[in-house]
Amino acid sequence: TTTQVGIIGAGPAGLLLALLLQRKGIASAVLEQRSREDIEATIKAGVLEHPTAELLRQLGVGARMDREGFVHEGIELAFGGRRHRIDLPELTGGKTITVYPQHEVIKDLVAAVLAAGISIEFGVTAVSLHDVTSATPSIRYEKDGAAHELRCDFIGGCDGFHGPSRQAIPQALRQEHLKAYPCGWFGILCEAPPSSDELIYAQSERGFVLLSTRSQTVQRMYFQCDPNDHVDNWSDDRIWAEFQARLANGDGWQVKEGRIFQKGIIAMRSFICETLRHGRLFLAGDSAHIVPPTGAKGLNLAAGDVVLLSRAITTYYRQDSEAGLDAYATQALKRIWRGEHFSWWMTQMLHDFEGEDSITRRFRRAQLDYVVSSRAAAMSLAENYVGLPFEGIE
Ligand code: FAD
Ligand code: DHB
Repeated sequence: TTTQVGIIGAGPAGLLLALLLQRKGIASAVLEQRSREDIEATIKAGVLEHPTAELLRQLGVGARMDREGFVHEGIELAFGGRRHRIDLPELTGGKTITVYPQHEVIKDLVAAVLAAGISIEFGVTAVSLHDVTSATPSIRYEKDGAAHELRCDFIGGCDGFHGPSRQAIPQALRQEHLKAYPCGWFGILCEAPPSSDELIYAQSERGFVLLSTRSQTVQRMYFQCDPNDHVDNWSDDRIWAEFQARLANGDGWQVKEGRIFQKGIIAMRSFICETLRHGRLFLAGDSAHIVPPTGAKGLNLAAGDVVLLSRAITTYYRQDSEAGLDAYATQALKRIWRGEHFSWWMTQMLHDFEGEDSITRRFRRAQLDYVVSSRAAAMSLAENYVGLPFEGIE
């Protein structure tokens, strides 16, 4: 088969790219190694930035998000036994975030992509990229034991951190940056009412905690852990004792406990592959960059990438010009580095690490005190947290 843009990966990046291109009359086809059921059930991120929520609405896939998602007008930073509110609309000229789980976004995007007549092949294996530096690249894959080839003008490498697209760029040509953090996040889903109306990011000497939500009856919570720990080491009782100890404060407020029905450990790293283009192959989303989850930026950076990539490809077909393609990496990297820096900044401000010197701990506290007492500092946090405009960074 033949199409204009062959897209590898049906995550947020790949599915959004397919819809953005379709709006400009550009054909694409999506290849996904997992099943539809699997991608629609995998628990990942939960926070949509203001520009991401707007993008979903513009693409006509925002209706269920607007009905079932939760608009949040603030977050709380907890430290030193107190909680401090960051008022997002007041500090950003009216902007908010939406708590709507990634797998629900995926369900809405898959339905919209299929309804638009774009093909998604689920359950493909042995995906490989060919002739990416020629004008006629192709993607080979297997499905149900048979070999297939998708010929295209461009390849959208939207296959996440472990996918084959980045590996298709020769190592010697790849400009990469990696920082691993000496901790992970232990994430749970539990049956309990919300402990707070807003997300709480809590710093303590026992380690970081994040309280997030999914509904009036299901809560999403995380605590900083050893990245090599195993979920089987943590009974429900031990998990709740750890949350209570880290969230202990002066006013008697306590986290509400309930039956835990999902547990997992997430690695924390900052990774950027600056080589976003190799011939006709373009990387977008987690295939090119990973952030630690503290800034809630992963999915949102993927959305920003594909807005720029779809524009570059559209310019190529409409104006027969490679200028947009040439500019994609430079433009996208500005927003990527901003999100990477913010994610690192939130992470180092909110996590204590073993073996740190006393001055580092005092700097952390000075930074937290400043963020909750200076309007200028709070505005900077809020502006980044609700998300900078997709075209804002020139
Ligand atoms: P992905 O969502 O990874 O999608 C890539 C797709 O490509 C996948 O469906 C994959 O199956 C497919 N694929 C891979 N290899 C192949 C292949 N060979 N052939 C075909 N298809 C392939 N971010 C936050 O902000 N907060 C969080 O709490 C958070 N939690 C996370 C938890 C986990 C376990 C993970 C993995 C990520 C988490 N993230 C979180 C990050 C966020 O979910 C990602 O940034 C976001 O999913 C990026 O979207 P993407 O489309 O680029 O990549
Ligand atoms: C969630 C995840 C994050 O990484 C974050 O910063 C905020 C919320 C969540 O899963 O709800």
